[in-house]
Amino acid sequence: MKVLVTGGTGYIGSHTVLSLLEAGHDVLVVDNLANSSRESLSRVQEISGRTAVFHAVDLLDEPALREVFARNSGTEGSHSRIDAVIHFAGLKAVGESVSQPLRYYHNNVSGTINLLRVMDDYGVRTLVFSSSATVYGESNPVPYIEKMEIGANNPYGRTKEQVEDILSDVGAADSRWHIALLRYFNPVGAHESGRIGEDPLGIPNNLVPFIAQVAVGRREKLMIFGGDYDTPDGTCLRDYIHVMDLSEGHVAAVNHVAQKAGVFRWNLGSGIGSSVFDVLHSFERAVGHELAHEITGRRAGDLPAFWADPSAALADLGWSTSKTLDQMCQDHWRWQKNNPQGYTTA
Ligand code: NAD
Ligand code: WQD
Repeated sequence: MKVLVTGGTGYIGSHTVLSLLEAGHDVLVVDNLANSSRESLSRVQEISGRTAVFHAVDLLDEPALREVFARNSGTEGSHSRIDAVIHFAGLKAVGESVSQPLRYYHNNVSGTINLLRVMDDYGVRTLVFSSSATVYGESNPVPYIEKMEIGANNPYGRTKEQVEDILSDVGAADSRWHIALLRYFNPVGAHESGRIGEDPLGIPNNLVPFIAQVAVGRREKLMIFGGDYDTPDGTCLRDYIHVMDLSEGHVAAVNHVAQKAGVFRWNLGSGIGSSVFDVLHSFERAVGHELAHEITGRRAGDLPAFWADPSAALADLGWSTSKTLDQMCQDHWRWQKNNPQGYTTA
């Protein structure tokens, strides 16, 4: 297939571009580089020996997006037609979404509406969307299953929920659409080569990138947000998933929905809850020594514990995770150690 990947220079996108190229698909990438570097695709090319065609386009610029589809429409003088889109492009920082809600709704929701309009006009109606476990909100029991009522508790999460609603309505209105809503849990790790990985701008919001920057000497110590939760060691439990397991989940999902019309929802997680201390100790094993840390107050909005029931993805896609928490930390550490300043060292 010829797959257009929005957000394909970003963290999960670049790993998925690699998996798609390795699975024999042709890949086009659209990204505005708001939170990523083109260097990621050069590294993907170096690993795979294949090239993804890059377009520096913002999804909010509908004419520019339309031009990419026109150039790949299979009509005379254009390249072969796009078969499917995997849509990663979006802003993803929860705290920032609270202080800049309009920017988040505009980018994530309006950007997706532009994409859907252009896809529809060009008859490309197979879409895999990056949703998030955050849509399950605060009131659901664990493990999360796809049929639960959703209700996110922050603007970022509500952009995901709104896009899920839009896609459900689009699929209900026109049976020619083939749509997968993938609810990711906590993606971490890097490709085992250590050549591509997560490269957050500024102070990392997420646990593993923060620990990695402590380990490489860019931050003094990890602040653990709360040690008095009602969990086995007092810290929150999350479902960490290796980014390569996640990227392979996308390949499985796009292959599946390409053959099947409708709107489908799948959790992509391991089904295992790991605590902040589990992650810290696993990372310490990867590094080979202890890392400075301190328990501080709880972070607003954090839930004590959540993880996926991933059985639907196994049943429908034949997909499940294979990598352990130790492999996630070893691979994340290899990337961080070899690229202490991320892609800017390139
Ligand atoms: P990322 O920031 O590394 O990648 C997102 C990419 O989208 C970036 O390269 C950015 O430049 C691009 N982008 C943003 N707005 C754009 C626009 N208007 N036009 C074109 N490009 C645009 O993030 P990631 O971690 O790879 O996440 C990918 C997707 O998965 C996001 O939609 C995110 O919300 C979702 N997700 C991420 C996580 C996570 O913890 N990383 C968890 C669940 C869901
Ligand atoms: C994990 C655990 C923190 C940082 C977020 C988004 C979610 C999804 C994935 C996109 C929690 C603790 C963290 C630190 C810490 N993204 N922690 N010190 O909050 O589960 O999910 O990323 O869809 O929407 O909310 O992930 O990595 O931020 O936190 O103690 O410096 O680590 O309290 O228990 P989270 P996280």
